[in-house]
Amino acid sequence: MIDYKMLLDEAKAARGHAYAPFSGFTVGAALLTSEGKVFRGCNIESAVFSPSICAERVALSKAISEGEHDFIAIAIVGANAGEEPVDPCYPCGVCRQVLSEHVDLSSFEVIVEDKGEVRTVTLSELLPSAFVFEK
Ligand code: THU
Repeated sequence: MIDYKMLLDEAKAARGHAYAPFSGFTVGAALLTSEGKVFRGCNIESAVFSPSICAERVALSKAISEGEHDFIAIAIVGANAGEEPVDPCYPCGVCRQVLSEHVDLSSFEVIVEDKGEVRTVTLSELLPSAFVFEK
């Protein structure tokens, strides 16, 4: 049973480290492994723009670089810097694709908060007909 509230709180804590001076939009993510480990990420922008990276892919990169490969959920929160998140922050298309290459699409849960209410969807709902490259 996934503790949605705990994972959202982890994402909120991660959001506090976001570096987003260009967009002013700060995001936090918390990625959960099947063993219960949590990897946090925040967005990190660059003055050159294209190297900027989303919170979700920071969390995923941290986890994979530590040898983790079994992920069951990710919580995401985002809002303008200094504001409390109100609307849900769903992952961008790039993050949906990158996540899809490391998780079971039909069971992996994406957790967001919508005006204080927890919402969960599977990655397959967010990325139907996903591109799969057979290695
Ligand atoms: N961003 C994320 O970190 N995750 C998302 O799911 C959506 C967008 C970041 C990228 C950029 O730093 C800022 O939010 C505005 O797009």
